[in-house]
Amino acid sequence: MAEVFDTITEIIKRRRSIFPISYTDEVVPDEVIRQLLENANYAPTHKLTEPWRFMVFRSAGKKRLGMELARIYKVSTPAALFLQKKHDSITDKIDRASCVIVLNAQLNPDKVPEWEEIAALACAVQNMALTAEALSVGAYWSSPELISGLNDFLELSNNEKCFGLFYLGYHKEEPRPANRTPIASKVKWIED
Ligand SMILES: Cc1cc2nc3c(=O)[nH]c(=O)nc-3n(C[C@H](O)[C@H](O)[C@H](O)COP(=O)(O)O)c2cc1C
Repeated sequence: MAEVFDTITEIIKRRRSIFPISYTDEVVPDEVIRQLLENANYAPTHKLTEPWRFMVFRSAGKKRLGMELARIYKVSTPAALFLQKKHDSITDKIDRASCVIVLNAQLNPDKVPEWEEIAALACAVQNMALTAEALSVGAYWSSPELISGLNDFLELSNNEKCFGLFYLGYHKEEPRPANRTPIASKVKWIED
């Protein structure tokens, strides 16, 4: 059991957000993506609503996603604030990723409050992030304002909402220690 603890602690502490700028051209195989998704599915979920919904964008589908995000940026940005560089960086980031998983939640307001569905989705995403780390795949959760304009493109139903993009790619980054303040400053023990 000590070995299991050591392994999970190492993976949790080693996981970092790895951004598309660091991704290599190496393709992350579908089988690896499936391993991430399989582990996502074991997240905790109040009333077993299993609200996480994922859309895996690869190849031409991924290109269309990038073009749509860039289009949304263009139509939602006043001309005076529009930056061609920012526009191009949107498609560039998507191009650099081997795969982008769109993170959606199916809300069930008659059963549990929205925040619980978002919390369950986040647990599922963390399962994916830790699995990605264990498989040496770089990953990061991106939540740009632009995703609020994706509903039609994603063909989401009324009770579905998009909460981000999960970028994936192999990389050659050296491990870097996470910058966190001590847990003791965030915990109160009440014992009497
Ligand atoms: C819900 C959520 C949304 C995030 N959205 C963004 C984002 O839009 N852009 C970004 O650069 N990082 C985003 N991140 C990643 C954080 O910046 C990152 O987790 C933080 O800097 C800590 O670094 P680490 O993940 O390497 O430990 C997001 C993380 C979470 C959990």
